[in-house]
This record gives sequence, C-alpha cells and structure tokens, in this order.
Amino acid sequence: MKNTVVTFKEAKAKGEKLTMLTAYDYSTAKLVDGAGINSILVGDSLGNVVLGYPDTISVTMEDMIHHCAAVSRGIKDTLLICDMPFMSYQASVYDAVVNAGRLMKEGRAHAVKLEGGVEMEETIRAIVNASIPVCGHIGLTPQSINAFGGFKVQGKGEAAAQKLLDDARAVERAGAFAVVLECVPAALAKRVTEEISIPTIGIGAGADCDGQVLVYQDMLGMFTDFKPKFVKHFANVGQIMTEAFKAYDAEVKAGEFPAAEHTYKIDDSIIEKLY
Ligand code: KIV
Ligand code: NA
Repeated sequence: MKNTVVTFKEAKAKGEKLTMLTAYDYSTAKLVDGAGINSILVGDSLGNVVLGYPDTISVTMEDMIHHCAAVSRGIKDTLLICDMPFMSYQASVYDAVVNAGRLMKEGRAHAVKLEGGVEMEETIRAIVNASIPVCGHIGLTPQSINAFGGFKVQGKGEAAAQKLLDDARAVERAGAFAVVLECVPAALAKRVTEEISIPTIGIGAGADCDGQVLVYQDMLGMFTDFKPKFVKHFANVGQIMTEAFKAYDAEVKAGEFPAAEHTYKIDDSIIEKLY
C-alpha cells in the first residue's frame, strides 16, 4: 500500500501504529520498502553512521540530496522524508523554502523534516505553504548539540515539559503532518500524543507515540560506537558481516574461493594457441 502524508494522518485517527526507519542508499531502501515499513527517513544521522562525523553539524545539502536521490530510486510504497541539514533553514525563512524545494526536486523526497518547535513555527508554515509537507522534530534535536551541551533527555523539569508541549502545538499549528519526539520521558510523550491531532513518531519516547523511528544501523547492531538506551538490536548484522568478511579472507587465502562454479570457462585449445 502506498503511504502518503494523508495515510499518515488517517493512521492516527484509526489508532494504527506507524513505522519509520532510516536509509541512505538504494539497496537498503529496497529492503526497507519491501518489508512494509511506512516511511523512510534519510536522516542527517547520515553524518554519524555513514560519513563518520562525531555529530550532524557538518552534513551539507549536497550530502542529503545525493543520498535521498539514491533512496528514492529504491522505493515503491514508503513515504520518503528527507532531513534538512544544519544551516539549510535556520538563517532565514527564504533559505528554508528554497532548500526544502531542492530536497524535493533534486532528492525526490515526498516531505522534509526539520528540528525545532515554537521558534520554527513561521519556517514550517512557509514550507507547507509551498506545498512541501513538513515533519517536525522536537525534544532532543541533535543539530543543537552545541547549545544543549550534550545529548540528554529533554522535557524533564516542569518548564521543560511545558516547553515541549508548546513546541508540539506550534509544529501542529504550523501545518506539519507529523512530529518526531526524540528522548522525551514516556508520560510526557503520551500527553503530547493525546494533545495534538498529527501523529507523533517516537525515538526514545516510549510506547504511547503514534509511531516509532530508529536508525537502521542501530536496530541491526551495525553501529557500535555507542548504544543509546532506546536502541534495541533486532538482529546482530554487524556480527554477521564480520563473520562473512573473515570467511572470505580465509577462503581466498586458502585457495578455496573462487571455486569452479564462480569461474568463467574458455576452450583449452584456444589458450594453447596463444603465443
Ligand atoms: O537523523 C535521523 O536519523 C533522525 C532520527 C533519529 C529521527 O532525525
Ligand atoms: Na536527524
């Protein structure tokens, strides 16, 4: 079934949970799409898990377009959401609309995602007014790592909890079709989910969100630099890859690979005639 921003909103009304996973390339996108996941996020987590940066600050528009376009060629039914990278929307509303447009035209995204609540209300509204669907992202917003002074759970104190609720309302009011809640106490995420009409997609925000999102390398056990509390390894693909790499190394060095069935043939008489 084809997923759109409309089916996203309908899922909330029907009480059906939504799934989102990241992907950054064609092959992975095909697998995620084929598994029936509702949406793919080309996250700026690209910076961490694909490009090896310590944070998402260095990720560029060109990086996002390059990977989003690759993912777009691998999908059939999933809704494709592309992250707006740091400084592609913060400096002005004009920048935000132009750059969101590039992610749609050049990256072939169906929607964009940007970080921030109350302070991004006008920006989100302007992008939505350009017919570009927007997914919000509040709570822990990694592009603000230097302002936060580290990765930590958001919305714990009274003022912070109220700010999160205000952020969610602002994102909804601005016309976003969904909002990601990252690293928020479960009871607060539940309250936000009940309060707004658009689906909440949680990551480290408990089971009462309308949907969940994970970085695929995290859930497959392929990224082991660190493991946040909210990550579950649904498989140990990293370990399987290491075992396969070791088996290849051993077979090549033992002269066992390639075997006859992996090898092209030519008539011996032709080889004998060569001078
Ligand atoms: O960049 C990303 O992968 C994200 C998700 C973790 C929500 O923003
Ligand atoms: Na992101």
